Amino acid sequence: MVFVCPNESLIMTRSVLAITDIRPAYTAQLAQRYDLHRFDQIDDKAAFLDRMGDKITAVVTSARFGLSVDLMDRLPNLEVITSFGVGYDQIDLEACRARGIRVSITPDILTDDVADTAIMLMHATLRKLVAGDDWARSGKWASVGPMALTRSVRGKKLGIVGLGRIGQAIASRAAPSGLEIGYFGRNPKPVDYRFFDRLTDLATWADILMLSCPGGPATEGIINADVLAALGENGFVINVARGSVIDEPALIKALETGRIAGAGLDVFYNEPNMDRAFAAFENVVLYPHHASGTVETRDAMAQLVVDNLDAWDTRGELITPVA
Ligand code: 8YV
Repeated sequence: MVFVCPNESLIMTRSVLAITDIRPAYTAQLAQRYDLHRFDQIDDKAAFLDRMGDKITAVVTSARFGLSVDLMDRLPNLEVITSFGVGYDQIDLEACRARGIRVSITPDILTDDVADTAIMLMHATLRKLVAGDDWARSGKWASVGPMALTRSVRGKKLGIVGLGRIGQAIASRAAPSGLEIGYFGRNPKPVDYRFFDRLTDLATWADILMLSCPGGPATEGIINADVLAALGENGFVINVARGSVIDEPALIKALETGRIAGAGLDVFYNEPNMDRAFAAFENVVLYPHHASGTVETRDAMAQLVVDNLDAWDTRGELITPVA
């Protein structure tokens, strides 16, 4: 919004700090509407903050980059953070609430793509899609013979950790494919799936552990050596949640020693510099944190970021607030 003084002369446009590009066309829209500053493109960030910190009233960021408390502290007049993505583990909501800073995310519109990716990774892992592609492509099929047998998805028990929007979308895809569904979460939900109040009990029951819970301190490292041992040598882990949810050294050890059967991973503890140990496992399918990475979904997410900021700027409201 442009602020106009009583004599109608132009005073100022809202100053917005973009931590990253959301999508070029949508970042361009922001630049047309606001006094937009791309933090990722500023060389002398300290000098910028000295000069502009108190003028910034809105931040545009993403689930990946969030907003550090240190940077937030340099923005004393910050009113709103609009984030591209559904996860907000990189934004300190308590600190935002304490300062009255409002926060929006982009829920729902990425649910289908993320759930589809979870199912894709599950099939790719149990059926060894990537190894099979290599078997055909490399000529081993002709020179060595048929590849080794894989594992059926139908008839398996799928243990979902976190039955939120994405977890439920995964369950609704998996049930018609002949998987039995169980889940672990803070509370039972009004669904017909089997509820477990202990993660190790879910892991003992499940053939496939599907991670779709939020990241952050509450779920840090909950998939640990004990849970992996409970899952067992015929068990698989699929992760579309956050890398932080898994104790990665424990997972690598379990894969190295054959204590679980395989894993399909979209997310890693240290992105994009994931632990290279994962690249050596033939029974692991890797995806570069790209579950929501389609043109359709990313455009819809970017539009919702623009719309949230517009709603705040014109009406003092957010469309999809989380704080
Ligand atoms: C983001 C994600 O869309 O939405 C989330 O929480 O993890 C991703 O799918 C992507 O990282 C862009 O920030």
